[in-house]
Amino acid sequence: MARLESAELDLDVWPEPLPPPYPELQRRVKGVHGLLTLITDRIDAPLLDAAGPQLRVVSQMAVGVDNIDLAACTARGIPVGHTPGVLSDAVADLTIGLMIATARRFFEAHADMRAGRWTTWDPMGWTGPDLHGSTVGIIGLGRIGRAVARRLQGFNVRILYHNRHPSLHADALGATYVPLDTLLAESDFVSLHCPYTPETHHLINARALSLMKPTAILINTARGGVVDQDALLHALRSGEIWAAGLDVFTPEPLPPDHPLLALPNVVALPHIGSASIATRIKMAQMAVDNLLAGLAGQRLPHCANPEVYARA
Ligand code: DGY
Repeated sequence: MARLESAELDLDVWPEPLPPPYPELQRRVKGVHGLLTLITDRIDAPLLDAAGPQLRVVSQMAVGVDNIDLAACTARGIPVGHTPGVLSDAVADLTIGLMIATARRFFEAHADMRAGRWTTWDPMGWTGPDLHGSTVGIIGLGRIGRAVARRLQGFNVRILYHNRHPSLHADALGATYVPLDTLLAESDFVSLHCPYTPETHHLINARALSLMKPTAILINTARGGVVDQDALLHALRSGEIWAAGLDVFTPEPLPPDHPLLALPNVVALPHIGSASIATRIKMAQMAVDNLLAGLAGQRLPHCANPEVYARA
């Protein structure tokens, strides 16, 4: 905010903690030259049209841009800024944390302790699978998937991955490319790090879950829509898979009475993958860099639709 204020812009800042309702956003964007958005703002063709042809840039404070219709922006010559790279390490840290917290039942054990159910040292009490020595399947070996793989080097695991294309970085990470079904069938942990697109919508559906081991753990720090949540609920209830560690949901926020939150084999977090203080500050700075560049008619340092420049 300090940088934006000193840039002497005519700012319209949404003052509420909850996101602006879509009709309100549509009303307020009229005539703006730039938009700084969060993942909670839907930016689609009607919204861009409501803004008007003077709109020069959309800058999102996130790496994922699935809330933004990129094609509609490109068609209107509007570059979309995002924040790749700066959050990979924070999300990877959280992913490893979720793997261990889910496997080793941190929250279940903590809740039992608080409720007075720690009555003795039970030889098989609160036991779960090991991360060390396991097979971890990474779906999406992009920046975040690779940061997860780097951290896993210390756990003596076998790393499988699946991507649209085999990755040039895989050998250095000791990661082996396999078809998706092989990854699902052989992994003890399946961790999702792909973007949410029409191709990845419900990539983890009932069929995919049925291929996983009954001892397997699903970790999702990508986007809720990559998983068919009803199928996951069924798989967790029926013991088709062992547990899930989830930072993302459909919808967000997930209602507190959602049945997933009542399951002992679910560790759930409220979309906090990138929520380290330093990371969020870097994301904000990048979003401002992109916004100011776009307003000045310069190429965005981090553009999610670089094809927009080929149009010019
Ligand atoms: C992103 O950047 O896409 C995350 O989901 C929020 O950090």
